[in-house]
Amino acid sequence: MAQQEDVFKKLVAHCKEYGFVFPSSEIYDGLGAVYDYGQNGVELKNNIKRYWWDAMVKLNENIVGIDSAIFMHPTIWKASGHVDAFNDPLIDNKDSKKRYRADVLIEEQIAKYDDKIAKEVAKAAKKFGDSFDKEKFLATSAHCKEHQAKRDALHARYAKAMNDNNLEELRQIIIDEEIVCPISGTKNWTDVRQFNLMFSTEMGSTADGSMKIFLRPETAQGIFVNFLNVQKTGRMKIPFGIAQIGKAFRNEIVARQFIFRMREFEQMEMQFFVRPGEELKWFEHWKAIRLKWHKALGMGDENYRYHDHDKLAHYANAATDIEFRMPFGFKEVEGIHSRTNFDLSQHQQYSGKKIQYFDPELNESYVPYVIETSIGVDRMFLSILCGAYTEEVVGENDTRVVLKLPAVLSPVKAAVMPLVKKDGLPEKAREILNDIKFDFNCQYDEKDSIGKRYRRQDAIGTPFCITVDHQTLEDNTVTIRERDTMQQERVAVSELKNIINAKTSFTELFKKLM
Ligand code: GAP
Repeated sequence: MAQQEDVFKKLVAHCKEYGFVFPSSEIYDGLGAVYDYGQNGVELKNNIKRYWWDAMVKLNENIVGIDSAIFMHPTIWKASGHVDAFNDPLIDNKDSKKRYRADVLIEEQIAKYDDKIAKEVAKAAKKFGDSFDKEKFLATSAHCKEHQAKRDALHARYAKAMNDNNLEELRQIIIDEEIVCPISGTKNWTDVRQFNLMFSTEMGSTADGSMKIFLRPETAQGIFVNFLNVQKTGRMKIPFGIAQIGKAFRNEIVARQFIFRMREFEQMEMQFFVRPGEELKWFEHWKAIRLKWHKALGMGDENYRYHDHDKLAHYANAATDIEFRMPFGFKEVEGIHSRTNFDLSQHQQYSGKKIQYFDPELNESYVPYVIETSIGVDRMFLSILCGAYTEEVVGENDTRVVLKLPAVLSPVKAAVMPLVKKDGLPEKAREILNDIKFDFNCQYDEKDSIGKRYRRQDAIGTPFCITVDHQTLEDNTVTIRERDTMQQERVAVSELKNIINAKTSFTELFKKLM
């Protein structure tokens, strides 16, 4: 675990050193849990967004996109339940004065029992070698059975307290489990209180003429309030979906783990409108589709898993997360929720406008049910970087840091490099660059040794390096080096576009989704 934390620290430093992510307002010592994306980060982020957007809007004829405003009428947040129920349970340690989410403290305690079981299993597997039977061991080991029983009891108690909104019980669990503050090491806890996560501001110029509005904590509501606009103008028939990518804001109590939990972040959300009674069928459908989308990137199927929710949000009748194995454990990247007809019904009630769909096949009107897929761009970005960051030994006393990014998502697709800065090689290299730059995001680099230039491109995950040498001037061929294998091949300049395209085009990736 400590080793993994070390890797994560190196990854955070790498993100800054290579222009992926910077702390926001850094020259003023930063702003808590707010980050800026640098020159390479923005390219990776845009590629992630394109992968999501096209997979939704281009590949599905019954899904269309919108871009709604961040500022919305304040009643929307009353109707959606966010004013009253978008809370996290917080608790303070009186000695360190540090604030924590009570639910997170308990979930970390549950994870500790899981770790204990995993350690027992690993120890026994080492001892018994090939003859080890994990299932049998788990069923018979006294230690494992004891840890499992404690874990299950804690989990059941926690799930009940969360579902009942029982703040006293949450505190009691923390006391009974003897959970200590990681800073002060004490159990001197305050009561648990609810804390609303929405940011608010004033709209309008005069004090009495102004109105309190909220920065949206999810993009979904912009879709719900435009349901009729899109359905009517797009002549959409149920089932159909509306997709949106945009910023969301949450005043997170505990913002940790770099861009995992931010106060300003970006969401990619799709609301899929279905007939009442068919929602659980569509929920299973979208669960499978979304996992396939993640796995198609080739980051290792074993790094993903579903996690069904114990506590359902106020609007949901089924919910699951897609989690990715980060260096700090399996963590949520995407949520898939069956939101019932809660949101549309609420907006119908609060706005006084009829929000219904006339189903010509059933010959009746109803408020549609909704399946939502909701993924954080920044979390997806982090999961991709965690999966891609690799430290490799590449010969005696030589190592390299390489980002093994899916090539379609790489910020730069190819770097063109003259072997030396003379003899007409830079001019030839620029001629090649000028030809391929219309199709791919490319870089030109002539500084330092060729080895150093390769390492710089490895560090930002560039799939191809093209080297122009003296032979190029004679026969119009170059060497092309592939990032992961480091293999070099001599190819005709006229072949370059095909070679780069075969590995970096979205088309092949999209075919895997069909
Ligand atoms: N509309 C439903 C919704 O917002 P959510 O589970 O609260 O559901 C969806 O958020 C996704 O948004 C999460 O799976 C995560 O990827 C991302 N997300 C949520 N809060 C975040 C935060 N503070 N920082 C970064 N990403 C966040």
